[in-house]
Amino acid sequence: MSHVEEAEGTRRDFLYVATASAGAIATGAAIWPLINQMNPSADVQALASIEVDVSGVETGTQLKQLWLGKPVFIRRRTEEEIAAARNVDLAELRDPLARNANLPPDSDASDAHRALTEDGEWLVMIGVCTHLGCIPLGEQGDFGGWFCPCHGSHYDTAGRIRKGPAPRNLDVPKAAFVSDSVIRLG
Ligand code: FES
Repeated sequence: MSHVEEAEGTRRDFLYVATASAGAIATGAAIWPLINQMNPSADVQALASIEVDVSGVETGTQLKQLWLGKPVFIRRRTEEEIAAARNVDLAELRDPLARNANLPPDSDASDAHRALTEDGEWLVMIGVCTHLGCIPLGEQGDFGGWFCPCHGSHYDTAGRIRKGPAPRNLDVPKAAFVSDSVIRLG
């Protein structure tokens, strides 16, 4: 490539970038008054609730969904994961509370109070470590659930903190099945 061609290429890139950002500013300016006029509660409500299609989630896998700026883990647990979570003596748990937004705040951290469905197959949690906010990794750690590599917090297959510096179980957000294959968050 000659110098002339290179210079042209650079200028074209520059023009493209300049045009794109001018477009973004113009769009932003057009949208702002609309948002500004909206009833704030309707605005917040629209953002606060989303529906997630989980028909493609196989047993033993999870879907990560961004919601209100945070990752949400939607896991379809195996029989073994459910059994492991249900066989835990609640006295062994560091955090004895369910931390489930769908239940009263004093509900205990039994697996039935953590899972979304009665059979325990579905578990929905905010994927943010309760220590300092990293995103834990699935199917890892000493308890076969989630592991946060930032400072070594181990969560079990119900997302309950079992070892490491995190003080609380992973939060369970407000969630419900609205059809066979769709979960509403919020
Ligand atoms: S942020 Fe997860 S262990 Fe510190």
